Amino acid sequence: MTNPLLVPLTFRNGRSARNRVWLAPMTNMSSHADGTLSDDELAFLAARAEGGFGIVETCAAHVTRDGQGWAGALAMFDDTHRAGWQRLAQEVHAHGSLLIGQAYHGGSRAYRSADHPVPWSCSPAAPDEPEVRQATPDLIESTIQAFADAARRLESVGVDGIELHGAHGYLLCQFLSSVLNQRSDEWGGSLKNRARLVRRVLQASRAAVSDDFILGVRLSPESSSSLPGLDLDETLQVASWLCDDGADFIHISLWHAENNSAKRPDEHPARIFRDALPHDVPLITAGNIWTMEDAMAQLDYGADAVALGRAAIANPDWPGRVIEQGFDPSRPPLTARELQERALGSVFIDYMRKWSDFVAD
Ligand SMILES: Cc1cc2nc3c(=O)[nH]c(=O)nc-3n(C[C@H](O)[C@H](O)[C@H](O)COP(=O)(O)O)c2cc1C
Repeated sequence: MTNPLLVPLTFRNGRSARNRVWLAPMTNMSSHADGTLSDDELAFLAARAEGGFGIVETCAAHVTRDGQGWAGALAMFDDTHRAGWQRLAQEVHAHGSLLIGQAYHGGSRAYRSADHPVPWSCSPAAPDEPEVRQATPDLIESTIQAFADAARRLESVGVDGIELHGAHGYLLCQFLSSVLNQRSDEWGGSLKNRARLVRRVLQASRAAVSDDFILGVRLSPESSSSLPGLDLDETLQVASWLCDDGADFIHISLWHAENNSAKRPDEHPARIFRDALPHDVPLITAGNIWTMEDAMAQLDYGADAVALGRAAIANPDWPGRVIEQGFDPSRPPLTARELQERALGSVFIDYMRKWSDFVAD
């Protein structure tokens, strides 16, 4: 019998990935200063396509210049970025994977530079935090347009789809948060108003691309200590609206996918989302998935595919090897040399030193 992880994943627009193992979006700081793709980033992603991942997703890539979150970020806001995305799509396709770009804006967490000294968001920051501007309606509208332009730009060079980064406290998530979003106009207050930005971005992107282009959204289902104002039932409602608006998949970022929901401790988030969403919209889960058993447990809970982050860094060929009897994935800490052998460049390796116990010195 075919391993369920290796059964093709079909989206509602008819596009199919060869299996249900997805490379999670991972920032690697390796792009050029102007946001164009570097050879190092290409090599990292291509190695995961070669290793059998059904979907290769890029790191978060900013859709406007002022949305950049950190140095070395990949970008999709300008036609100068097209050549890199085209090269990446060709390389990833040559190995049989689909390529999804993660589109985002950092909002209040955007990188402070001489050109953009004060980032913006739904609301100003608390008095004891660094200054943040409150967005005008015009700025919000132009940012929606920038997301749609980025989707069109990527489709024009052969990328298969984009995922809107609505998780982890960046702009789209900031608007969703009942704590961070203190607006009283149509962009804040009720859930309908807080969800307006992510929905308008999806609708505008949908209108900008063909039906073949895959559009999905990543969401953080519930609050955590660093992410206030997210409620499970609200996120379920948002996800359901997004499916009505044309989302081809919903990706929930869990960090610890083995855990049940904080709000409903007897239930697993995958089961809760699967039950709430249309059956033809795949649900992807991510978070601490290392072994085939971990991944199968997610499918049992109701996920349609699993996204691997750190396990994919350590095991570029995880999907190709998962059916091997007794496959025991490598685990960190890994030496710099071992990471180099896994197609990580020196900048990415240095960045991984910030993740606890990942790089062995
Ligand atoms: C180095 C690194 C960079 C990450 N960058 C992003 C990112 O750009 N966008 C995003 O949505 N999540 C990002 N994440 C979160 C991962 O996509 C994933 O959800 C998380 O690492 C949990 O999965 P894992 O336990 O399989 O690593 C990053 C994680 C890591 C380890």
